[in-house]
Amino acid sequence: MSPEIAMLPIPATLIPGDGIGPEIMDVAVEVLDALGAPFAWDRQEGGLAALEAYGDPLPASTLESIRRTRLALKGPLTTPVGGGFRSVNVRLREEFHLHANVRPARTLVPGGRFDDIDLVIVRENLEGLYVAFEHYIPIGDDPHAVAISSGVNTRDGSRRIATYAFEYALRNGRKKVTVVHKANVLKALTGIFLEEAREVAKAYAGRVAVDDRIVDACAMQLVLNPWQFDVIVTTNLFGDILSDLAAGLVGGLGMAPGANVGDKAAIFEAVHGSAPDIAGKGIANPTSLLLAAGLMLDHVGRRDLRTRIENAIGEVLNIDKVRTRDLGGSASTQEFSETLLRRLR
Ligand code: NAI
Ligand code: MG
Repeated sequence: MSPEIAMLPIPATLIPGDGIGPEIMDVAVEVLDALGAPFAWDRQEGGLAALEAYGDPLPASTLESIRRTRLALKGPLTTPVGGGFRSVNVRLREEFHLHANVRPARTLVPGGRFDDIDLVIVRENLEGLYVAFEHYIPIGDDPHAVAISSGVNTRDGSRRIATYAFEYALRNGRKKVTVVHKANVLKALTGIFLEEAREVAKAYAGRVAVDDRIVDACAMQLVLNPWQFDVIVTTNLFGDILSDLAAGLVGGLGMAPGANVGDKAAIFEAVHGSAPDIAGKGIANPTSLLLAAGLMLDHVGRRDLRTRIENAIGEVLNIDKVRTRDLGGSASTQEFSETLLRRLR
């Protein structure tokens, strides 16, 4: 990259979010500043703050900003239960066709129950059971006697996510893609996913290996021998579940970043939610969001800065032994942040 290009600021939308969101986003912005990250932030509201200000948890101004920047770092958003609002996260994914959800799980704290974990889950982000085509059938005086939900997988969508996973493997020096499905039972819904993924794999023969697993067996194998996995590609619901499992292998939700990637935008976030139980207490672990910011730096061609963030976090956790409570330590968010900033400056 030429020095002139490296110096151009990159417009990016910043959504602090709800609950612990603003606390951990403050840390992320400070850390990115200390790194000299190239982002020019456009701060926007989303979630409960936006609901109060605009009557919509995903206001038009926020959508317009992302349409313009095509790049966002977002904190967790609380979707009000009841009140008729659809999940803000699902709306964002649909609005910007964010078809791939990439969730790496890598050990940063050695000596835990699982050491040296380094795997990536690529989750289809728009289809499957999360289209939530749901309805009830009333029987007698029970209006909800029967619940029905339909899943939708398309050949196009399956091919797109499989191709994304194999291209990701090539770009990141990964050796194998495991296709995870339930085609023995959901023969149509996850059958076409498996079929298309196997078809896509042929174009990568000799470059990226492929195998496949049924999702329940995969869950067990992820606990018994997670080291056999490299990149996992799977449908929306299975990816949601397995990526939380994978986060558990490396210390929990405080350690799990995610990237929502599509043709129209890329939105980076922590896998966890707004953690209302610890919001405002100053004890949240900002690592997930910091790792997500690292993925965002990688996305704009600054893998060097991603590596610096990840290494510095590793030093804070393992050399300084400054850890938040979710990792068994006693540090506050601020203590963690100050130690990290000292490592970076
Ligand atoms: P959650 O992920 O917010 O919390 C689950 C547990 O993990 C809690 O005990 C929490 O304290 C802990 N935890 C999460 N992040 C942590 C961190 N950084 N440091 C330390 N501990 C942490 O999940 P929950 O409670 O099911 O959801 C709360 C709200 O978040 C809901 O409104 C949900 O819709 C929303 N949510 C939003 C997401 C997003 O914006 N991407 C993702 C998941 C949930
Ligand atoms: Mg989830």
